[in-house]
Amino acid sequence: MAGGLVATADTARIEAPVTFKAYLMCAFAAFGGIFFGYDSGYINGVMGMPYFIEQHTGLDPATTSAADFVLPSWKKSLITSILSAGTFFGAIIAGDLADFFGRRTTIIVGCIVFIVGVILQTASTGLGLIVAGRLIAGFGVGFVSAIIILYMSEIAPRKVRGAIVSGYQFCITVGLLLASCVNYGTQNRNDTGSYRIPIALQMLWALILGIGLFLLPESPRYFVKKGKLDRATEVLARVRGQPVDSELVQHELAEIVANHEYETRAIPQGSYFKSWANCFTGGLRTPSSNLRRTILGTSLQMMQQWTGVNFVFYFGTTFFQDLGTIQNPFLISLITTLVNVCSTPISFWTVERFGRRPLLIWGALGMVVCQFIVAIIGVTDGQNPAAVKAMIAFICIYIFFFASTWGPGAWVLIGEIFPLPIRSRGVALSTASNWLWNCVSSKLSLYVTYLC
Ligand code: BGC
Repeated sequence: MAGGLVATADTARIEAPVTFKAYLMCAFAAFGGIFFGYDSGYINGVMGMPYFIEQHTGLDPATTSAADFVLPSWKKSLITSILSAGTFFGAIIAGDLADFFGRRTTIIVGCIVFIVGVILQTASTGLGLIVAGRLIAGFGVGFVSAIIILYMSEIAPRKVRGAIVSGYQFCITVGLLLASCVNYGTQNRNDTGSYRIPIALQMLWALILGIGLFLLPESPRYFVKKGKLDRATEVLARVRGQPVDSELVQHELAEIVANHEYETRAIPQGSYFKSWANCFTGGLRTPSSNLRRTILGTSLQMMQQWTGVNFVFYFGTTFFQDLGTIQNPFLISLITTLVNVCSTPISFWTVERFGRRPLLIWGALGMVVCQFIVAIIGVTDGQNPAAVKAMIAFICIYIFFFASTWGPGAWVLIGEIFPLPIRSRGVALSTASNWLWNCVSSKLSLYVTYLC
């Protein structure tokens, strides 16, 4: 074993007790979720704002019918999906950056790139600049969303890792809620503030996260990967709230190093291309092969998107409007977002108490049952106001199941399933899959709903 480290066979002594300060340090990174949620949530509202529509179409609301006073679909589609393009490639590139420059540095760079994108969007008065701004901001969100999970999984104590990564999902839900509230507050303004306020506000999340991370330490696993054991000891002591020479810190470091040595023997590094190719080695039949892990991570994120939850968050307001029997679709939409926020904390406990797999199985079952009930009500008695109320209740129960299981579960798992030599790339590929399917599934569900 490297560098005279002290190992122990007593697993209870491998990790320091979780101090409040250590807990807070790890949990702070979850703040990155606000980015993700807010950024996904605000644009829909902005594209429905009268001032924004007038600016981008030249239509006069006084002389245009409500049905015609909308952004053309191609513009809506371009403005929405250009962010996903940025996030997809941003997440993939971030895997490399996190290995070369460190997890923390990559997240801080992500915040800076994001701020540049937001400034362009805020300054925009036409299509070109808002599209360019969203593409650049997308890269930033891609960096942050892929590497935050990696960073949190690597610094969090094992006992509370699931709960801390679930905190990230909680912040996503808070971001979505904040976006709905800010949009609601500015939607009727008759000046550029209507869209500039919700757009510019995002800089605040980036500043808080970037400055906060600047004060937090780098991941000890990154230093172990780079062979810098002294730095690894220092930062591990900081995130565990222990002195550098503490036995507990030494034991944990010894375990990280031993794991890394074992994994590097099993997965020799080689050239740059080899390090990517490593994510796909080992064959389909070997349960613990890298290929199986990569397929698991990317398909978990794909299936999370295929639950269809973003249909409710992205298009809920217009969908509830179209049902024709609801007086305040915005309120219903806000309620669904609130159910999402309030149900997520349940997973802080369940993810550790019941384990990841049972949580995903029960969550999927709950969602399927609710979706069937909503579909049956919709096709049999969809015009009856009482039936529509029941439908909304089941949509809320469905969100409850998502928020307490698959929402956090998919993120927790991708932080845990990859061995260190391929972890940054594995997490990056899985996050890129989330963004890819986020874009495809939300467009598809919109298309299918309004076609049928
Ligand atoms: C998903 C997002 C979704 C959010 C809803 C996340 O885990 O990846 O696409 O909007 O949960 O809370």
